[in-house]
Amino acid sequence: MDVLAPGHRRLRIGDAWRDATGGATFTVEDPATGKPLAEVADADVADGLAALDAASAAGPRWAATPPRRRSELLTATYRALTARSEEVARLITLEMGKPLAEARAEVAYGAEFFRWFAEEAVRVEGRYNTAPQGGYRILTVPKPVGPCVFVTPWNFPLAMGARKIAPALAAGCTTITKPAAQTPLTMLLLARIMEEAGVPPGVVNVVTTRRSGAVVSALLADSRTRKLSFTGSTEVGRVLLRQAADNVLRTSMELGGNAALIVCADADLDVAVDGAMVAKMRNIGESCVAANRIYVEEPVREEFTARFAERMGALRLGHGLDDGVTVGALIDEASVTRIDELVADAAGRGARVLVGGARPDGPGSFYPPTVLVDVPAEARMLRTEIFGPVAPILAFTSDDEVLAKANDTEYGLVAYVFTRDLQRALRFAEGLDTGMLGINRGLISDPSAPFGGVKQSGIGKEGSHEGIGEYLDLTYAAIDLP
Ligand code: SIN
Repeated sequence: MDVLAPGHRRLRIGDAWRDATGGATFTVEDPATGKPLAEVADADVADGLAALDAASAAGPRWAATPPRRRSELLTATYRALTARSEEVARLITLEMGKPLAEARAEVAYGAEFFRWFAEEAVRVEGRYNTAPQGGYRILTVPKPVGPCVFVTPWNFPLAMGARKIAPALAAGCTTITKPAAQTPLTMLLLARIMEEAGVPPGVVNVVTTRRSGAVVSALLADSRTRKLSFTGSTEVGRVLLRQAADNVLRTSMELGGNAALIVCADADLDVAVDGAMVAKMRNIGESCVAANRIYVEEPVREEFTARFAERMGALRLGHGLDDGVTVGALIDEASVTRIDELVADAAGRGARVLVGGARPDGPGSFYPPTVLVDVPAEARMLRTEIFGPVAPILAFTSDDEVLAKANDTEYGLVAYVFTRDLQRALRFAEGLDTGMLGINRGLISDPSAPFGGVKQSGIGKEGSHEGIGEYLDLTYAAIDLP
């Protein structure tokens, strides 16, 4: 199959690639042109439950598969993804819009989750110890939680699925993934790659649908489902958490963010500008870890702003497959309109637009890199996830002031601090209410590190040693030994 060719894509359920009940389909478009890329099967509730039948049937056998074998299959997936990087990256760019260089980086990032969890699969351990008072022993036995439902976003169509599927398989769980309706093609290609790598039928099921609410609700209401992992907005996360509560499911929730990026007067400004560019513009700003508010200490505010604005203004907007393009299309028109409204709201309240700020004409969902200063505290963009290439720059004069402002949000995913003063960095690390912190770095995402937020940014960790624990239950046995 030529995955880049227009055509029809089917559901992956058990050992079959099959149409949705009734043959329904929906169209996936290239956001840079608005042109159709493919017709994709539009699953209904019965299809979703068929995937759960397959995942449940495959569960005991997969759980009993030796960890070494599971590890080998994850390594085979890592190798296949790496070997087919270009094909996967082009597909990501076509359906999601990001520049090809970023799509290649996503393939490397996504593949690495398979390598990391291949290594973790054989290191799942229990404990055996003497009870403090003696007389009996304590044995803990980790076990796979069971069939998992994954709801994955459009912004990293490969990597966000990879970081759920890889640890689940490593732990011995089977999976059903419901990718975002805007970007289902990459997940279908991953399922194909995993099938070819030898992953048994029923272990990785993919249900594409535009009827997400009904299909996911039915899956969460079924007592065979034992775990939900979701990456997406806090708003949708709250709804899914309520549904998961009825079935008392284990959940991992990677939700929204409102990251503060703090540049102290003692920072190395070259490092700070580079870091701010990455933290703001990676993935065109369409990321929950994107810098949403840039706070700069007054003595360096002018210089930082000038240098950052120059870099933002030099970026090139265009189709992600074209040479030299550094800012691709946003996911859809609704996103462009939302961002345009946020910029208009800030400008209407007195913010000055230094770079960008106007949506271009023509086909495709484009918005230019935009820098604003003098953004008043009431501007909506300071309270909501911008999820686009827009950077508000704000001034601060004391650490207490900036800490209070950075923490004044219901989100707690990540923050970034640029300073050469170790004690200052540590005070920020202790004072910022976030699950993650970049110190003199604009990129924190790493499969070997525990990714996750606090407050309304989420529950649980993905990646690292902690990542596999999210897919394991612990049975404890008390063994009498007088
Ligand atoms: C996200 O935007 O949801 C995650 C980004 C990342 O893993 O770096």
